[in-house]
Amino acid sequence: MKVAIIGTGYVGITTGVCLGWLGHDVTCVDTDDGKIESLRAGVAPIYEPGLGELLTQVAGRLHFTTSYVDAIPRSQVVFIAVGTPPTADGSPNLQYLSAAAQSIGANLDGEFTVVVNKSTVPIGSGNWVESIIREADEKGRGSGRRGERFAVASNPEFLREGTALHDSLYPDRIVIGADHARALEMMYTLYRPLLEQSFAPPSFLPRPDALGAVPLVATDLASAELIKYAANAFLALKISYINEISQLAGKVGADVSLVANGIGLDARIGRRFLQAGIGWGGSCFGKDTAALVSTAADYGLAMPIVSAAREVNRRQRERVVERLLSELKILKGKIIGLLGLAFKPNTDDLRDAPALDIARALVARGARVRVHDPVAMDRARREHPQLEVSYCAEPEEIAAQADALILVTEWPQYRDLNWARMASAMNSAVILDGRHWLDATALASAGFRAFRL
Ligand code: UDX
Repeated sequence: MKVAIIGTGYVGITTGVCLGWLGHDVTCVDTDDGKIESLRAGVAPIYEPGLGELLTQVAGRLHFTTSYVDAIPRSQVVFIAVGTPPTADGSPNLQYLSAAAQSIGANLDGEFTVVVNKSTVPIGSGNWVESIIREADEKGRGSGRRGERFAVASNPEFLREGTALHDSLYPDRIVIGADHARALEMMYTLYRPLLEQSFAPPSFLPRPDALGAVPLVATDLASAELIKYAANAFLALKISYINEISQLAGKVGADVSLVANGIGLDARIGRRFLQAGIGWGGSCFGKDTAALVSTAADYGLAMPIVSAAREVNRRQRERVVERLLSELKILKGKIIGLLGLAFKPNTDDLRDAPALDIARALVARGARVRVHDPVAMDRARREHPQLEVSYCAEPEEIAAQADALILVTEWPQYRDLNWARMASAMNSAVILDGRHWLDATALASAGFRAFRL
């Protein structure tokens, strides 16, 4: 099928590359000339494992443009995957969504087009987008064939950064919200190779053995929009739940990792997203839980469970500094090294990254902060020029004369650092394992006083 994708962020570019891999002809649109130029040259705009490789492999079926006229007419399906960043009050900024809808409406060619919301949009946005497209379409062409020219569908995205290609090609389910039968039919045709898992997997991304056909969840628009929020909020509260249990575990002398395993093996609970520690960051969980609470408030509903999960998560970052304070007694003048800046491993994304809050809080208490991250340091320098930290090229460098280390992001390469050498280079060999992830025995035998959150 012919597909257009508006926006080349995480969701847009991953969707484009994966649909290209399935054999569709995809045109990606972005207003950023620089991004389009580098994509044309085969350079991925984001750090995402495997993306550059797949971009090269689907090059013939993937086109890039800054012009809607080149993309919208003749496209059977148009995905909107523009950013909806949070504004100061937490509500999403919908200006890019509205601009995209207007430009799509102004360029429809009269053949039936499905316009798909893939950005995380507030509940009710499907109808709002539809009205903008209709208005722009009618302005150009008169109101004659209204209703038949396009339909809006919602197709929420569940990909995780760092495993975006895997999550897109081998999803747990595909959700399509559409109030229009023809739109649903076209979306089914588009995703058929994914639903049936009939495509040949990329050589570097084999299909998981246990994966059979992928379930399709067909719903109305509002339900699909709510599924996205409800899924993210549930994952977020699972993490906050284990972090709350972790605090009690610390008091009673239990090991939260064992507790997580013990409860997670109950199939009704599941083991994933029970990794205790500093808590969640990133572009989705904070934003989506805030939006859920605020949408509910519009209807006079409180969301006490979701609100509590947010509060627990906020407190985890403060608890890092409190724990360190109680270990070191004084933070003023102390040298603290942070291992990891990105909000999670395998990405350079710093949105709502706990490391930034922790670094700022330590600096505010007079500590000197050193940081290392395998990929996110350039981005941190660029996006956070005010951050008063010293960047170290190698993880070992942050140890020299340091008073404590904090593992903030569980990058795989941190697992087997030369801990003995680092401990001997430090002023005091103290480490806070903020992700409950390092080998406590190895740390102890290297001479560290290691503790967890
Ligand atoms: C999330 C959702 O998982 C995805 O479905 C949605 O489309 C976008 O938001 P992402 O933000 O990329 O994806 O990362 P994810 O792997 O979900 O992790 C989010 C945060 O939770 C990270 O900061 C991670 O460190 C933290 N986390 C995750 C935990 O603290 N414990 C866990 O057990 C799992």
